[in-house]
Amino acid sequence: MRMLAIETSCDETAVAILDCAGDEKRATFEIRGDALLSQAKIHQEYGGVVPMLAKREHQKNLPHILKTALTQAEISEEGVEVIAVTAGPGLEPALWVGINFAKALALAWGKPLVAVNHMEGHILAALARCEGKLLEIQGVRLPVVALLISGGHTELVLMREWLKYELVGQTRDDAVGEAFDKVARMLGLPYPGGPEISKLAERHRSARSRLGTGSEGSGEQSGVAIKLPRPMLDSNTCDFSFAGLKTAVLYLLKELPELTEEKKRHIAHEFENAAADVLWAKTKRALAQTGAKTLVIGGGVSANTHIRRVFTENSAREFPEVLLSIPHASLTGDNAVMIGIAGYYHALNKEFADFETLAANGNLSLAQSSTKPRR
Ligand code: KG4
Ligand code: ZN
Repeated sequence: MRMLAIETSCDETAVAILDCAGDEKRATFEIRGDALLSQAKIHQEYGGVVPMLAKREHQKNLPHILKTALTQAEISEEGVEVIAVTAGPGLEPALWVGINFAKALALAWGKPLVAVNHMEGHILAALARCEGKLLEIQGVRLPVVALLISGGHTELVLMREWLKYELVGQTRDDAVGEAFDKVARMLGLPYPGGPEISKLAERHRSARSRLGTGSEGSGEQSGVAIKLPRPMLDSNTCDFSFAGLKTAVLYLLKELPELTEEKKRHIAHEFENAAADVLWAKTKRALAQTGAKTLVIGGGVSANTHIRRVFTENSAREFPEVLLSIPHASLTGDNAVMIGIAGYYHALNKEFADFETLAANGNLSLAQSSTKPRR
């Protein structure tokens, strides 16, 4: 089945064309076209994504992004069988652009439409093994626990049955990506801040190991003690909180006489450690509660080198029987390939969207809250 997928939920305009085959036991996805335009530079001067600017850019760029994807795939519209589009969650003005574009294409070409939840795209992308342009999802061992970490989300989701989700935990305030972005801004780093924090933190780590500086958390290198809180680490739930961590950085900066490059690296390092500690602690709780056999991390923040390392090391040591699935680097951020993958499974089940009622939903949820996870 040839899918054309459209993603415009945030600040990436993306269209992908995938040749999909198989079913939930084993499916393959050949990427025939994959065109993506990031608006990050445009939003940079505002320090974050401006919804109306995002909408304008999607409107401006979607037609030629479609053309690029079709040209890469060397097909015309007749070759497309199903159109998949992100329906939410995300920025509603931005989502509407993709949805209306998809509706117009589906009407003009006479093709069915599938509405995709963006977060499900992140989960399935993380489950895919990737070899060049060929992706494969095979023999997924249920239950799956997915830690979804992005600019708008921080949640632990349980997939006990294939494509059926329960919410196990979520942030009570800021998303972890939002905290990365805000802390980066406080440190004078450009948007998106996650990769910038990561670069500084990694530099601090390698300087420490060159100097042979011992355990975490001390402040020798930049001459001050820098220790940030790990919010809700010991609470009895799988919920997160990142607002306090962000505020702690703000107070720390107020107390510093001057912010040298070395101190920036040190703060980035301690912030990243704190975020990774909390993410792992809550994931560990979710794994123990649910008896999951597979652990997935997905969303933009899953690109983070330190978080990937912590999850790889800790899950191998503490949950050796659980299979860890981390998305390929090309699929961590927002993209249309993941929307095509999710759309394919729903198209297989003939879950097509209704033209009249399909609408953007900025808060579209993947799962209902589950207070009593079963073993
Ligand atoms: O999934 P995504 O591309 O868009 C949303 O759906 O939000 O995630 C974007 C978020 C941003 O907050 C960005 O700073 C963060 O992912 N991010 C990172 C890294 N790369 C992107 N955060 C930490 N480390 C990274 N390497
Ligand atoms: Zn995303």
